[in-house]
Amino acid sequence: MGTHHKLIIGNCMDMHEIPEESIQLVVTSPPYFNAPFDYKDLFKSYGQYLGVLKKVAKELFRVVERGRIVVLNIDDMLVKGIKYPIVADATKIFQEAGFNYRDRIIWKKPDGYLRISRRSGVLLQNPYPMYFYPDNLLESILIFQKGKFDYKSIPKSIKEKSKINIKEFMRNKWFMTLWEINNVLPCSPLEKDIAAFPEELPYRAIKLFSYVGETILDPFLGSGTTMKIARQLGRNSIGIEIKKSLIPIIKKKVGFDGQKRLDDNSDTFEIIMRPKGWIE
Ligand SMILES: C[S@@+](CC[C@H](N)C(=O)[O-])C[C@H]1O[C@@H](n2cnc3c(N)ncnc32)[C@H](O)[C@@H]1O
Repeated sequence: MGTHHKLIIGNCMDMHEIPEESIQLVVTSPPYFNAPFDYKDLFKSYGQYLGVLKKVAKELFRVVERGRIVVLNIDDMLVKGIKYPIVADATKIFQEAGFNYRDRIIWKKPDGYLRISRRSGVLLQNPYPMYFYPDNLLESILIFQKGKFDYKSIPKSIKEKSKINIKEFMRNKWFMTLWEINNVLPCSPLEKDIAAFPEELPYRAIKLFSYVGETILDPFLGSGTTMKIARQLGRNSIGIEIKKSLIPIIKKKVGFDGQKRLDDNSDTFEIIMRPKGWIE
């Protein structure tokens, strides 16, 4: 049976198209508060940014099925010399929305990751105490859960179809709270200016926290990485993206750009364009 993929162009602070308890897994990466390269001055204040997270967390609690998981890739952000504790604040916000805080995994990028300016250079210029600012190679993957999961609710045949490959699990060290995953290069053509996460991140999350045929939501869809991997793994998906200009990128990434591919089957793609709330 084919999978269905729905792209909603609009603001994810409101998810009215998505019925209550209809989502089995959320994998997403919200914009990082005014990140110097990607979202410079996007939000008027940190308070406004946290207000967006609060509304999204509340909507996610409504649409996520009982027992299910939200995987949030997020990190603290240094903006104009001030470090904003986004991980701590987002954790509190999701708890207050009703989720249980289940785990935090650290995503480590390769040592050569140098996109953000090398803060440690300050000490090299001034080799004295108090000039130390470390280079950041880490991001957080926060895992929240809505109540208890009923393991007996899944039919045996679906369980078998969704079985995790233990060799892959061990080889790539999925079992630890440290995931070493290469970042997407800033020069990658499909992800230019989008701050996309690597495919490996939704791949692990979808395999570990959802069953074949279920529905995965990414409310900050960006280039469509979550949707692409959901399709690849036999899951349905819903993505919300505020930027209309990303439609062709998403279609291309997920494989609905009209090019016939070897893996073409009966999968379907639908776009819902809201009357307002999106940006060009
Ligand atoms: C960090 S990027 C996500 C990248 C994505 N994980 C990927 O792999 O391409 C965040 C995305 O959220 C979108 N966005 C920001 N605010 C939004 C909102 N309120 N509603 C929907 N999308 C939003 C941005 O336009 C951006 O594409």
